Amino acid sequence: MAVLPILEYPDPRLRKVAEPVTEFTDALQTKIDDMIDTMYDEQGVGLAATQVDYHYRIVVMDFSEERNEPIVFINPEFDVLDEEPNEFQEGCLSVPGFYEHIYRAAKVRVKALDRHGKPFEMDTDELMAVCVQHEIDHLDGKLMVDYLSPLKRNRIKTKLQKAQKKRA
Ligand code: NI
Repeated sequence: MAVLPILEYPDPRLRKVAEPVTEFTDALQTKIDDMIDTMYDEQGVGLAATQVDYHYRIVVMDFSEERNEPIVFINPEFDVLDEEPNEFQEGCLSVPGFYEHIYRAAKVRVKALDRHGKPFEMDTDELMAVCVQHEIDHLDGKLMVDYLSPLKRNRIKTKLQKAQKKRA
């Protein structure tokens, strides 16, 4: 298992639309394990494959206190169960250090395949519903900054670019 580097906004690779997974190979299992490791290492509750520069429709999440109950979603899709918008303060490992108030649907039903290709469904609310929508956005090349005003988005971009330059 390995911790993978995470792409940071405004890296253009975060804008790629991920392809559906069609084969459940050993290589895929390794990649999923690496994604889970990376999520734990970064103390995130969710991670999309796009964020580790792997452009297939894979999301991992873990909301457990012990951080030992990972959920793997392959080719996830969701239906909105409750249109009522819910405001949450969201963060993103690809937008480090910024926590912004964003409106998302309060309840969604997520449909996906598990890591071995078996279909499952899950009704989610609260943080998990937010996370489902946030991570599926990543697979479509969309970021939480896209929900902010251009002014705010540019301010975040400038700050992150400065930090990235310093590290390079
Ligand atoms: Ni994110």
